[in-house]
Amino acid sequence: MSERLVELEILRYDPDAGAPPAFRSYQIPCQEDWVVLDAVNYVKDELDRTLSFRWSCHMAVCGSCAMMVNGEPTLSCKAFLRDLPDRIRIEPLANFPVERDLVTNIDGFMRKLASVKPFLQPREERAPEDGEHHQTPVQLRRFKQFTLCINCMVCYAACPQCALNEDFVGPAALALAHRYNLDSRDLGRAARADVVASNQGIWECSFVGACSEVCPHHVDPAAAIQQMKIASTMDYFMAMLMPWRSK
Ligand code: FES
Repeated sequence: MSERLVELEILRYDPDAGAPPAFRSYQIPCQEDWVVLDAVNYVKDELDRTLSFRWSCHMAVCGSCAMMVNGEPTLSCKAFLRDLPDRIRIEPLANFPVERDLVTNIDGFMRKLASVKPFLQPREERAPEDGEHHQTPVQLRRFKQFTLCINCMVCYAACPQCALNEDFVGPAALALAHRYNLDSRDLGRAARADVVASNQGIWECSFVGACSEVCPHHVDPAAAIQQMKIASTMDYFMAMLMPWRSK
């Protein structure tokens, strides 16, 4: 298999060194079928063991290997080197605090995920011996797309509102809330509304759509947020016109 020499410019940062982040270059002899993660792993294995980054599955499933690749938020295990130029700039995911090298702090993201109560709140209590909650294919189709999120946070790095407002609940968490709101077995929509319909929720989204463009699994969080805006607006008018319904 043919080899190609690629230069990786990686933004390095060591909080213990007291120096600001700085780029360091590495020459990598790459195979034709390598992805960016393979090249970063080559640096770690062969050139510089101090490089820190996250990855696990190498198959676009775990969501842990997201980085900025030539300025674009990308899953590094899904970005083929053959589609990239000979000089590639690698940085930690934008809009997150950096802990070290390419490792970001995701505590805020985890808090946002938890805040939307991303779990089924059943319409009816059923004992295990009563069997499964049945659902028709049409009912499943309503929310299935929004179950495909792998929490890679690429959408947060692409979102201009996330860059401006660190409190914005953000695309992935809101899409996940929508996934449960649309589930025919769930009754938690009102409980999620405090966060979803707050100023830091759906109304902070300016519908640029960058989140959906970069999503590696085509979840389309921008569509989820706009659908929730419509549902939330209808809730508001229904509460005004028919207040007895919400009692
Ligand atoms: S390593 Fe799991 S998504 Fe890339």
